[in-house]
Amino acid sequence: METTLAIETSCDDTSVAIVHHTGQVLSLVCATKDLDHEPYGGIVPEIASRNHSLYLLPLIEEALKKANLTWKEIHGISVTNRPGLMGSLIVGLMTAKSLSQAFQIPFIGVNHLEGHLLAPFLRDSEYEPELPLEGSFLALAISGGHTSLYHFKSFTDYSILGATKDDAAGEAFDKFAKMAGLGFPGGVKVDQLARQGDPTKFVFPRAMIHDPTFDMSFSGLKASAQRLLESLTAEEISLQLPDLCASYQAAIVDVLIAKLDRAVKETGIKKVILTGGVSANSELRSRTQQWAQKRKVTLMIPPLRYCTDNAAMIGLVGILRMRQGEFSSLDLSPSPMSLSGDFN
Ligand code: KG4
Ligand code: ZN
Repeated sequence: METTLAIETSCDDTSVAIVHHTGQVLSLVCATKDLDHEPYGGIVPEIASRNHSLYLLPLIEEALKKANLTWKEIHGISVTNRPGLMGSLIVGLMTAKSLSQAFQIPFIGVNHLEGHLLAPFLRDSEYEPELPLEGSFLALAISGGHTSLYHFKSFTDYSILGATKDDAAGEAFDKFAKMAGLGFPGGVKVDQLARQGDPTKFVFPRAMIHDPTFDMSFSGLKASAQRLLESLTAEEISLQLPDLCASYQAAIVDVLIAKLDRAVKETGIKKVILTGGVSANSELRSRTQQWAQKRKVTLMIPPLRYCTDNAAMIGLVGILRMRQGEFSSLDLSPSPMSLSGDFN
């Protein structure tokens, strides 16, 4: 079991990768169709699944071509089967099952969140971390659907320390962007505008920041922003957008760093992984880097292409599990949910 072809279609991005069991990414191709969803201010599940049907097979051919491999040189197929949008997951899973049957190659269904956790261990010609897949890590997975802090004991052995009680951090970014009229997808737009803003101009709540658990909550923040935006005129909002974005973003970043800090202090673990779409946020990246230096923590943040949804991370999980003798059977179902710590 050397090489896997991986398929990721859990949300709106269609992605295919070919990954070696060492974590080397031989090819990664993605179709991101944000513009198709933009007029609706969020992801429309039907549009997402239709796009996956259109782009998946051409992307699979492109991934093989870019890696200069034929089906004979692919030893396994990895596919995200949970959690995600049902229609989107079905397209990827059914395609993986069909290819597995047609080419007589085993396949495995992978938990999307486990993919995010292993993303820092990928490597390519421009990213070569010296990371052994062993030892204890703290991993904060921050995406549009999840915000969870894990104790990563070894590959396939994770325990959850805490998670958001309501909205995910990415959802909080996206909802704020929508309310402020910034469009979709929101996180990047808030990040960009915040760079020219004053983070102390508006005061937003930092819920559960002093709570003795590792749990978080972002729905109060969203409600507070909604109240503030309703109290301002359209002109006031547009004039103060950079300050609004910087202040809102600072509230999210403060909570995430406070939880990481508590986890490092309580567990004594000095290796931290930041992963998931929100770890692309420039303020979060720079502030966690400063925090890590101060606390003498080794911080690992994958490059942007492995932070956001991508098939390479699914390939790495799949091939490592297949090398341990784990495979899926044709009756595997997709699932919209997954318990935060349930990767098996
Ligand atoms: O991991 P991901 O690509 O997909 C999910 O599994 O959800 O994460 C997507 C989330 C979205 O909420 C998006 O707004 C957020 O990541 N995001 C960002 C940035 N880039 C993506 N949030 C803040 N700042 C960014 N630069
Ligand atoms: Zn994701």
